[in-house]
Amino acid sequence: MSDKATLTYGDQSLELNVVEGSESEKGIDIGSLRKETGLITLDNGFMNTGSCSSRITFIDGEKGILRYRGISIEDLCEHSNFVETSYLLLHDRLPTKEQAERFSGLLNRFSLLHEDMRNFLKYFPLDAHPMNILGTMVNALSSFYPNVSANSMDEEIDICGARLISKIRTIAAFAHKKSIGEPVIRPSKDLSYCSNFLNMMFSSSVSDYELDDEQVKALNVLLILHADHEQNCSTSTVRMVGSSQANLYASISSGIAALWGPLHGGANQAVMEMLAKIHESGDIHKYIEMAKDKSNNFRLSGFGHRVYKNFDPRAMVIKKYCQNVLNTAAGKDPLLETAMKLEELVLKDEYFVSRKLYPNVDFYSGLLYKAMGFPVEMYTVLFAIGRMPGWIAHWKELTSDPTAKIGRPRQIYTGYTERSYTPMAER
Ligand code: SDX
Repeated sequence: MSDKATLTYGDQSLELNVVEGSESEKGIDIGSLRKETGLITLDNGFMNTGSCSSRITFIDGEKGILRYRGISIEDLCEHSNFVETSYLLLHDRLPTKEQAERFSGLLNRFSLLHEDMRNFLKYFPLDAHPMNILGTMVNALSSFYPNVSANSMDEEIDICGARLISKIRTIAAFAHKKSIGEPVIRPSKDLSYCSNFLNMMFSSSVSDYELDDEQVKALNVLLILHADHEQNCSTSTVRMVGSSQANLYASISSGIAALWGPLHGGANQAVMEMLAKIHESGDIHKYIEMAKDKSNNFRLSGFGHRVYKNFDPRAMVIKKYCQNVLNTAAGKDPLLETAMKLEELVLKDEYFVSRKLYPNVDFYSGLLYKAMGFPVEMYTVLFAIGRMPGWIAHWKELTSDPTAKIGRPRQIYTGYTERSYTPMAER
């Protein structure tokens, strides 16, 4: 027997079911509200509204818990890698040896990009943002490869998912090479997922690029930490577009667009641009005061989170795993020292502490990407590479749910009431 909630309005009283999740989260099911009362709810930014039930990721914002299919990110960063974590998210279980080998084989098979697609790169301006290239090219995949939609078989969807997870890495590296005017480096069948990406990014025919184990491990950790985050802005966008039964490539391309925003995945690039300004000004306190000044719309990028109100567990993991990479680079890069100073001052400042504004994943990831040699324009692209398995898992979950409906929120209209047309002569 489920709990009930009673909504009373005027002389109306409505009993609503309270649903409970596997981690004892509770939600009032308002599915019958408008039909029974004519009322809707209004919730700016959906701060209090669940869009769905999901088995994929659990977050406890107060306790700083993040688990993919029940396994903590700490465990996955310690024992797993990004490819295995991607399989876990897509299939609700860790792979057997055979399943892991087959999945890796698919990622290798799909790592090349259609040669005609490489021509697209030629027509982007040299300074095109790689997130723009990524979103365009991912959407274009539906013209070059078999499409999957809500009615496709699971096997076809899994093939398409592997193709996206593999090719997004190649597209990203090709976009980078184009931006520096260098020929692309093709994927190698002999390298693992992260090593292949680093090699495509940084090697060239005139330099002996050496893969660094610390950096390969750090990149696996960073991609695992970004792999999913329940109903965040970009994942909700993928689900919304998928709910219209648009194909998987189009749905993912919309998620890439949403992620680009500086309040979301674009924050990691904004963090580094902010640190550069702070460093140049030599006045860190000025920026902290600006962020606290309500008349100024400046905010400290990399701080605060809609869900985490104590600390972002991903930020803690990054610091732990990547200290070596940071330490090696910190001596050479004053921005990293500026960041550590900013973090120290903010964590002691009542304005931020009282609003539970702590460093989030984007604060540290940008520092690490810089220490690993990635150009700042690539930071949000790296976020997209990490989030790809999560987006696909949510698209699969939505499109395989027989009760799923097309997303179509209501509104409260605040415009003109009815008025007549005014002929031009009388305006
Ligand atoms: C990601 O949702 C996800 O899961 C996202 C993500 C994922 O993995 O998908 O975790 C990835 O997007 C992380 C967040 C990256 N964005 C940033 O770092 C941008 C800077 N942060 C903020 O813009 C803000 O904190 C948000 C957008 C992250 C959260 O905004 P909320 O939940 O809407 O909070 P709010 O705007 O209601 O702020 C509450 C108060 C306000 O002050 P008061 O009105 O109470 O006086 O805190 C203040 C805000 O002004 N505030 C900040 C601040 N963030 C919030 N003040 C200064 N600097 C900041 N960064």
